[in-house]
Amino acid sequence: MSANRAVVVDPEAPGRLVVRAVAEPVPDRGEAVVRVRAISLNRGEVRRASMAVAGWRPGWDLAGEVERAAADGSGPRVGARVVGLLPEGAWAERVAVPTHTLAELPDKVTLSEAATLPVAGLTALHALAKGGSLLARRVLVTGATGGVGDFAVQLARLAGAHVTASARRADQVPALRQLGADEVVVGDEISPTPKYDLVIESVGGRTLGTALAALERGGVCVTFGVSAAAEVTFDARQFFVAGRTTLYGFYIFTELGSEPASVGLRRLADLVEAGRLAPHISLERPWGEVGQVAQQLLARRFPGKAVLTLD
Ligand SMILES: NC(=O)c1ccc[n+]([C@@H]2O[C@H](COP(=O)([O-])OP(=O)(O)OC[C@H]3O[C@@H](n4cnc5c(N)ncnc54)[C@H](OP(=O)(O)O)[C@@H]3O)[C@@H](O)[C@H]2O)c1
Repeated sequence: MSANRAVVVDPEAPGRLVVRAVAEPVPDRGEAVVRVRAISLNRGEVRRASMAVAGWRPGWDLAGEVERAAADGSGPRVGARVVGLLPEGAWAERVAVPTHTLAELPDKVTLSEAATLPVAGLTALHALAKGGSLLARRVLVTGATGGVGDFAVQLARLAGAHVTASARRADQVPALRQLGADEVVVGDEISPTPKYDLVIESVGGRTLGTALAALERGGVCVTFGVSAAAEVTFDARQFFVAGRTTLYGFYIFTELGSEPASVGLRRLADLVEAGRLAPHISLERPWGEVGQVAQQLLARRFPGKAVLTLD
């Protein structure tokens, strides 16, 4: 077995990320060792890597095969194809992963497709759940062309919602309609009409500030990202006058304390297997290019997700 390697922060490298030799993982009793074959990048970890100290190991999403099953007998067997996530350090050839964050993959789901599911797919899934039953409800998804937004549009549609996608540019409209959006609104402000039962909001700034005035009575705005700006001003009267409106602060790793990641990951993977959910992989590259791909992600050079494959 060759030495383990991982993506590590190096301030001198392009994109501040390189692949380096690291220590082998030492699993706890409830952890399996996974040989990672594909990873995907998320905005949050890439942004953190752009500021982190040398040697920090980023990485949330991983897919691969179980090399050593957990000593306590939990989780998938040796050789199983799995998807999972870690709070950091997932971008390595071999990692120790708690079995409650691992799901075994159905045959037709590729490891690259699976790698897109953890943070982006679970965020979309759990954020939409804050709206309760979505059948014939009006849902607005902001940042709809991004990794989370793409899944949120598809899943909201699957749940029976009337889906409005919000995008920055008019040329993004056809792709969002094809994805399943009933309507697409363009620009960084949300009109106060029509009203929405649920807003899946990741842009922040003007978008969040104006979306709060577009909630239906009893409507919920789930805020989980600030891709444009973290500081927000809003008209409080317009927010409360509809009545019983809620602003919900969402952090995926907190949500996963209530339901293990393995549960949602299996649901998402089954939808992919059934052809009802399609991960949008815009970019697939060898992991040696992690620095360049991270830069492209931060500059928003592609929609959907980027996947890196390990040799
Ligand atoms: N709280 C949590 O648990 C959690 C979980 C997952 C993600 N997040 C956050 O949620 C946000 C969305 O995640 P993601 O993975 O979908 O990110 P992403 O793939 O980079 O997508 C960003 C989306 O925001 C849009 N956007 C609008 N204004 C933007 C601006 N000024 N700069 C950059 N993008 C802008 C982009 O539109 P264009 O396509 O036109 O560029 C795109 O649709 C990120 O901020 C991420 O950090 C938080």
